[in-house]
Amino acid sequence: MRDEPDFEESCEESLSGPFEDSESKPHHLELRAGGALLAIEASAGMRPVLIYAGPDISGITGEELALLATRQHAPGTPSIPLRGSLLNEIGTGISGPSGITGHREGQDWALDLRVVSTKMVNGKSIHVRCEDKKARIGTNHVFEIDASTGMLRSSTSVDNIGDAPFQIDWCAALCLPFDQRLERFLSFTGRWAQEFQIEEVALFNGSIVRENKSGRTSHDVFPGGILACRDTTEQSGLALGFHLAWSGNHKLRVDRHSDGRGFLQLGELLFPGELRLEAGERYQTPQLLSVWSQNGTNGIAQAFHRFFNDTVADPRTRNKPRPVHFNTWEAVYFDHDEDTLIELAKSAASVGAERFVLDDGWFGGRRNDATGLGDWWVSEDVFPNGLHQLVKTVRELGMEFGLWFEPEMVNPDSDLYRTHPDWVLGADSVEIVPFRGQLTLDLTKKEVVTYLFEKISKLVNEYGIDYIKWDMNRDTHHPGSEGKGAMHRQTMAVYGLLDRLREKHPALEIESCSSGGGRADYRILERTDRIWTSDNNDARERQIIQRGAAHFFPLRILGSHVGPRRCHITGRELPMAFRVGSAVFGSMGMELDLRDESEEDLAILKAGIALYKKHRHLIHEGSYLALPSAKGTNLVGCVARDKQEAFFSYAKLETDLATLPQRIHFAGLDPAKDYQLRMIWPETNPSISSPSIVDQADLQGKGVRISGAALVDFGVQPPLTFPDTCLFYHLRAFE
Ligand code: GLA
Repeated sequence: MRDEPDFEESCEESLSGPFEDSESKPHHLELRAGGALLAIEASAGMRPVLIYAGPDISGITGEELALLATRQHAPGTPSIPLRGSLLNEIGTGISGPSGITGHREGQDWALDLRVVSTKMVNGKSIHVRCEDKKARIGTNHVFEIDASTGMLRSSTSVDNIGDAPFQIDWCAALCLPFDQRLERFLSFTGRWAQEFQIEEVALFNGSIVRENKSGRTSHDVFPGGILACRDTTEQSGLALGFHLAWSGNHKLRVDRHSDGRGFLQLGELLFPGELRLEAGERYQTPQLLSVWSQNGTNGIAQAFHRFFNDTVADPRTRNKPRPVHFNTWEAVYFDHDEDTLIELAKSAASVGAERFVLDDGWFGGRRNDATGLGDWWVSEDVFPNGLHQLVKTVRELGMEFGLWFEPEMVNPDSDLYRTHPDWVLGADSVEIVPFRGQLTLDLTKKEVVTYLFEKISKLVNEYGIDYIKWDMNRDTHHPGSEGKGAMHRQTMAVYGLLDRLREKHPALEIESCSSGGGRADYRILERTDRIWTSDNNDARERQIIQRGAAHFFPLRILGSHVGPRRCHITGRELPMAFRVGSAVFGSMGMELDLRDESEEDLAILKAGIALYKKHRHLIHEGSYLALPSAKGTNLVGCVARDKQEAFFSYAKLETDLATLPQRIHFAGLDPAKDYQLRMIWPETNPSISSPSIVDQADLQGKGVRISGAALVDFGVQPPLTFPDTCLFYHLRAFE
């Protein structure tokens, strides 16, 4: 069970060091960084209490906060204040749901964890060690605040310090109390091809519980959300953003107790009996990331983006411009053929692609989705001379070469399954639910991981593969191994395999795909470089999906592709300028049969890719803003940190109710500066009537000089256009 990542390892080290003296008077620990404040009361022998976690309150001490948090006795309630603890365990008497539940054969279930020691490490992190000496359970709680973003990272590990096994049923990373003014819960839900849809729920007394047991982060229960006040908007008001960095099953709960207190819990969802700690063993929860903003939900998104770029992103890719992809999936599906692929590679390069990704269909007997998964060798039927000629051409065209894998899966119709039918996850006496004709391999078995590592590694070496699109296309309903629930171990094994491959092939980049955005979280992103946001390449729907996903993930990692004229998923026909416009605010790529596109559309595509390349530094490094958008529109932007330059995208998705579209109010600009405002996309005037501001202000020519204050407060009239139009505004400040 010892599966801790680096962060927890460092904590473990410090926990074994000398602790501060235990005192009997209340002992307060404070962490202040990046505009956030955490105050914990942790006195030896007492329960630890998280007094405050939120935006910094200048000058206040933990002691003062504790005094202000003093509870009032209410008739009909216990005679002493129930203050709770870091996990609100049963022994605290708190009536709301506990953050940890477990037992030892029916005994030791009423845990009551008391502080044993505390430690502040370099003024940057707080460690609290607790023990329930009777139940013989210990917990280590670690809190760290990122200095530049105020992102709080917290986690708990549980030690079985008894002689007999202890069964953990649930353990949240933390019971995080939240401000009572946060009354709205914004959850991120959806389905396949409709990821990251926001669903808002008004909090009520009781619990909102969202459980995911799909074996991935899922399309419908993203492990994260936002709590907001009644009047919080994109740009103003208090908000709390949170995310569990974990790629397997999870549970998220928001509880409002009858006394008005609210707590948030996120942790791993465990199957019955899945987590049994033998004597001396430890369980480590995934990390909970939480951050507060006083500037609305944009403050949350900006903190996540910056935290990702500075802390999570691999240094190798952090400073490398994100290349333009050409992906073969919607171009040819399983119909692979060397000549066609070479022709596509040539057209892709001619419009500006920088990476060619050969998707599903190149290996074993994989001629459709019912066969071949697991047989990781180049299909001799389709590529009698291997992939050499294709890879050579791709490189000569100046592109990187990427290859699709779905390592964790196997089709029953495969050599691998015929040889090793026992290599799959399942539960005795339960039929595996059919799902895309495939089964989940049991990566808790060493020999399975070795097989996958060797097969993938061999191909990476043989073809000098630069990039892997790592897919995972089914829910795993009853992931048993050796008779026991195994999703925790399976998830850790996936991380282990990815880590081994990264170590062996340090230049390799990897994309996390799971039928689109079904596996998107900060733990998988510690070992991958891009997320395939959604299989939905319908530009109109993509605008909404990307807007949702960008609350947690920076645009630089959100794969977004120009799809075919008639979208394969929605059947909608969309013009090229709109398809291009909707792919630029992300990690741009294309996924269409270029042979079907007209010369005119190829020219638009080429121009759009050139525009992306010119501005990607700003899109990927600038501060991201999702702005209040009138019905049927989507306004987002990126502003350079020094506010010298900005780039906004205004997408028109529906016709207007009013005769003219609502004015665009830019944001994030320096009100004291003058900006040159230009419209740089589409290439021709999109107005459907004249006269139009586009001509009168020469927006597509030299542009117009306007103050930042006017652009924000008075705004600009967008031209009247057809729906399915995307306008890019570029702003450059005068010195
Ligand atoms: C999943 C992915 C697609 C594609 C197919 C291939 O659905 O999300 O992008 O790679 O698998 O089978």
